[in-house]
Amino acid sequence: MIVLGVESSCDETGLALYDTEHGLLAHALHSQIAMHQEYGGVVPELASRDHVRRALPLLSEALSKAAISKQQIDAIAYTQGPGLAGALLVGASVACGLGMALDKPVLGVHHLEGHLLSPLLASQPPQFPFIALLVSGGHTQLMRVDGVGRYQLLGETLDDAAGEAFDKSAKLLGLSYPGGPAISRLAESGDPLAYKFPRPMLHSKDLNFSFSGLKTAVLTVVRNHPANIGEQDKANIARGFVDALVDVLVAKCLTAMKESGLQRLVIAGGVGANRQLRAALNAAAAKRRFQVYYPELEFCTDNGAMIAFAGALRLKSNPGLATKDYGFNVRPRWPLQELAAA
Ligand code: KG4
Ligand code: ZN
Repeated sequence: MIVLGVESSCDETGLALYDTEHGLLAHALHSQIAMHQEYGGVVPELASRDHVRRALPLLSEALSKAAISKQQIDAIAYTQGPGLAGALLVGASVACGLGMALDKPVLGVHHLEGHLLSPLLASQPPQFPFIALLVSGGHTQLMRVDGVGRYQLLGETLDDAAGEAFDKSAKLLGLSYPGGPAISRLAESGDPLAYKFPRPMLHSKDLNFSFSGLKTAVLTVVRNHPANIGEQDKANIARGFVDALVDVLVAKCLTAMKESGLQRLVIAGGVGANRQLRAALNAAAAKRRFQVYYPELEFCTDNGAMIAFAGALRLKSNPGLATKDYGFNVRPRWPLQELAAA
């Protein structure tokens, strides 16, 4: 079975073809980062309009890379939520329009389920069950994953998401959008001893997170700075910020691993691409003797492959999930816990 995946929840348009027998056939992606950069963040209306322009050319690109025709697609999976309403509507209407034109069934996929299952696309995928740390621009959650659709929320952020903290702190330092990769690069030349930022909720007895105080700590340092911040000082602040955030993420992962008794930790979402986080988790995993798994770098941030893949896994266990009812609705707010088991 060949599943077309359509992702358009935020500022990436992704289309991909996943074959349940042969794996990922092809994927095509357009990132709108350059377009949003001059505004310092995603402008929803511009995002929607760009998805309209990109979707069909990306479909042609994916089909030609996979060397298959549209008619060979068996089902179409699209991101139904959560995300920006207008952006989601574009992907949903493209998917349902194609479904109707090609007479193929469609199904809506949860964006976070896509992220959560994306490490299974890697050449050495983890087995279930595992603990997952989902760290993206909009979410920070620790989950126990026992199978497709079997997700138990263990803890989550009470305010800003990890990616959001990266983006907002980067903006305070005058770095361009998206801030995650930029602040991470800058931190590499920073002095780890120059700034000691708070580690929010490090000692709370639960698995919840809070990052808005960390961002405020960066803001305070920047505001109290005498004049223009020099490059080295910026790097020092970036380093202090990244170290604090990574410390908290790693500590909570270790607690979740210990409490669950599981041996596998899976990292998903855009912040999963972060070098410092990967290095710290790898070191902790080696010490505590558990395995840590990451998606391929290109599948950490939003993409169509994870949506095609999540759709295919869902359909494998329940083919009836895809229907020829093309009257779609999107779910901009959609807690992952509301997903039924496959
Ligand atoms: O998963 P994603 O593409 O979109 C959402 O579903 O939110 O994640 C985007 C987030 C952004 O906040 C971005 O700054 C962050 O992931 N990010 C990173 C890195 N690459 C992307 N944060 C830290 N280090 C990175 N290398
Ligand atoms: Zn995402």
